[in-house]
Order: sequence, then C-alpha cells, then structure tokens
Amino acid sequence: MLFSFKDNQLTSMARIGNSVTEAARLLRLGEVVAIPTETVYGLAGNALNTRAVARIFEVKERPSFDPLIIHVPDLSTAKNFVTHIPEKAQLLAEHFWPGPLTLLLPRKKIIPDLVTSGLDNVAVRCPAHPLTQQLLALLDFPLAAPSANKFGRISPTRAEHVDEQLGQEIPYILDGGPCPVGLESTIIGFEDEQPVIYRLGGVTAEEIEKLIGKIELQLHSASNPRTPGQLTRHYAPRKKLLLGKIEELLSRHPAHCAGILTLNKDFHSPYQRQLSVTGNLREAAQNLFQYLRELEAMPVDVILAEPVEDTGLGRAINDRLRRAAATDEHPETSYE
Ligand code: TXA
Ligand code: MG
Repeated sequence: MLFSFKDNQLTSMARIGNSVTEAARLLRLGEVVAIPTETVYGLAGNALNTRAVARIFEVKERPSFDPLIIHVPDLSTAKNFVTHIPEKAQLLAEHFWPGPLTLLLPRKKIIPDLVTSGLDNVAVRCPAHPLTQQLLALLDFPLAAPSANKFGRISPTRAEHVDEQLGQEIPYILDGGPCPVGLESTIIGFEDEQPVIYRLGGVTAEEIEKLIGKIELQLHSASNPRTPGQLTRHYAPRKKLLLGKIEELLSRHPAHCAGILTLNKDFHSPYQRQLSVTGNLREAAQNLFQYLRELEAMPVDVILAEPVEDTGLGRAINDRLRRAAATDEHPETSYE
C-alpha cells in the first residue's frame, strides 16, 4: 500500500495497474476494487459477500435503497442467479452480450437482499471490456458494481477519474484505459414478459427495437423512481449547468465566465468543449463525462450546454445532460 501526506494527514492510496490476478486476489479477500468496463468504471465487490457489498455502499456514499448491478462473464452464468429469463430477454442477451445492456430479472435467493435493496429482480449485465472479462473468468462469484463515483456525481470513464474521487478508500484500480462507450448501460426490465426501457444507455432504443419490436420507455425523473438510476439529479457536475439553445444562453451569460459544451459548434472560447467536431454521436458519448469534468474544473461560473440530435446515442446523451441540468428547485427538468 502506498501512502501520501494530504492535508497533513497520512492517507492510503489506491494502486493503479493492469494486473487482473491482483484484482482477483483482492476481490477474493472481500475487498472492493475499481474495474474498467466498456461503459464506465465500476466499483466492484463479490456480489455474494454481504460485507463486500456493504463496503461498496459505504465507499460510494450511496443510500442502500439504490440497488446494484451484478456482472457475469456470460449468459449461462447469469442463469445461476435468476429464476426466469423472458423470451425477449434471452434474445437481447444473446444479441447484445457482452455489451452495454443490463437486464432486470427475477433473482434467486443466493443474491443477497443488500444487492437488490430487497427487490425481487436483480440487475444483470455481461460487460465487454477484455480485462474485466478475464477477471470474471478467474472468479467463481459475480461482481456487484455501481459506477465508481461518489453517489450523485459524474460517472468515471478513466482510471484517474476513479482515483480522484475514491482513490483514498480502495486498494486497487484496474486500469483498462478510457471507456470506449462512455455512457452507462441501457437498463431493460419486463412487465408481464413485455420489455420496458428504464435507463437509456450504450445500446440505443433503435437497436433494441430492431431486434424485438416496439418497446416502451419509462424514464421517470420523479423523486420515487422505479429504478433509482432515474433519480433526476444523478449525473450532477459541481457547477450549475444550463441546457438550451447555446446562442440564447450566451446572450444572457457572458462567454468569459461561462463554460460551453456543444456537439460541434465552435465559439472560439478557451472554456469550450466540442463533443465531436465531426458530429459523431458515438464519439460524443465517449467524451461527455470527461468534458463535463474538464468544464467543471475551469474558472467559470456556469456551464452552458446544448442538447444533441435526439436519436440513437443522442437520446442517452441528452438524458444525462438533462439530469446534470436538474436542480433541487426544478427537479423535473427532464426529458419526458
Ligand atoms: O454501465 C453500467 O451499468 C455501469 C457499469 C459499472 O456496469 N454500472 C452502473 O451502475 O451504471 P449504477 O449503480 O451506477 O447504476 C445502476 C442503476 C441504478 O440506478 C440502480 O438503481 C438500477 O441500476 N438498478 C440496479 N438494480 C436494480 C433492480 N434490481 N431493480 C431496478 N433497478 C435497479
Ligand atoms: Mg451510477
């Protein structure tokens, strides 16, 4: 373990490395470890060990009513933890796993209450990142993992993001480089066998509909959400974020004290980020959380952001922007 002096205190720091065997060793001991996935970094622990799961909630400062996703290496392993897989869930898993899709399925008793916050369904996902695939293959338990950020803050898409927020509290960060998708997984549940999207994410609604037909969207933003990823203020940067047509926002906020986030409009400001100069939504998704962090760190009073085209990954990007823009006074500043 490394040590550093910070604020005159001796604090331990996470080691950052790419040793899958070291991550596996710590996880077998019941420790929590940050892991890379194709979407965002996760804060992982043995999903069958309540002490490890409790530690995840503690490090993340997450309320225990907000359940965790379990990560498995493949569909056949998922079957050890659920009692039933609806036909459309099976199709989705066969098509999109490993990949950025989470399925809510009825859990077996072996999954602790703490993982699901007492709900009957467990969220299951098979991540596509090669290091985490190797890690899961070494382990004989699934990994419970929320995004590796403090509760309510921006999800991490690089090892150093995890280190900034959680580095003092965890022993190891498995560094798999920048996350290629950059947005969390799409979450799908089933009501009477019929699929419902609860969170837009790395797999687009269009891709899903192409496979299984029309699908309902329930992206609630109420204070009593069905799936707590729907909490409105879930992706909050530390600075006030205003969402709208950028020229209008700029007419009210001088450019020298405002951060600007656009898809590819250029305002020649040092406090600006363009999500993708070529207007590519995949690249925009990859950059979104990194750029929100960078804008948050700039000497600006406010971040002005413009929604992107509302199709494909753009819908998930806009969803995150809306949540980042939501305030306690206006919690319903949401898409629906
Ligand atoms: O891409 C992802 O999904 C990332 C990576 C690390 O896998 N994970 C992630 O986890 O985004 P988290 O905890 O930040 O978001 C998971 C969302 C939460 O909003 C949680 O409320 C919801 O999934 N969820 C988890 N289990 C659930 C369940 N049994 N029923 C309903 N919602 C559930
Ligand atoms: Mg999260």
